[in-house]
Amino acid sequence: VCLGNICRSPSAEGMFRALLARRGLEGRFGADSAGTGNWHVGASPDPRARAAAKERGVDLSGLRARSVSPDDFGRFDLVVGMDEDNVEDLLAVCPPGLRGRVRLFTDFTASRPAGGVPDPYYGGPEGFDRMMDLIEEGVKGVLAHLEALEEGGG
Ligand code: 4NP
Repeated sequence: VCLGNICRSPSAEGMFRALLARRGLEGRFGADSAGTGNWHVGASPDPRARAAAKERGVDLSGLRARSVSPDDFGRFDLVVGMDEDNVEDLLAVCPPGLRGRVRLFTDFTASRPAGGVPDPYYGGPEGFDRMMDLIEEGVKGVLAHLEALEEGGG
């Protein structure tokens, strides 16, 4: 989950699905993305995100933005916000009993940058490269976390 669901979270969704495909795990895990804001609902990912993902072999063209729904917290075992503002906004709408599912995406990266994945929307192309680097790190950590949850019967 990010703010607009056109840059960071659809990129993470696409990279996570590609990782599942590479590992033959598409039947065991799934993913979706959403935004805390609703300005871009129905829109394709930002062309800069599509280009950055394509450079890494991932096609985002089929994704469309949506906003977070209260049902999401029951439907997904893990709800990751791309930055700390996203996490705060998620916690504000999450049913109290499900708050443990809400985490910061970069908690699952090796480098754990403070504040999460920076919003690349108003910056240049290097922001999208940095975003993709962090996403590539983080989706591996997210998958490892979900595999551990499954092994623990969670
Ligand atoms: P995202 O990036 O949250 O990574 O999708 C943004 C997209 C749009 C806006 C802000 C951030 N916006 O203000 O429209």
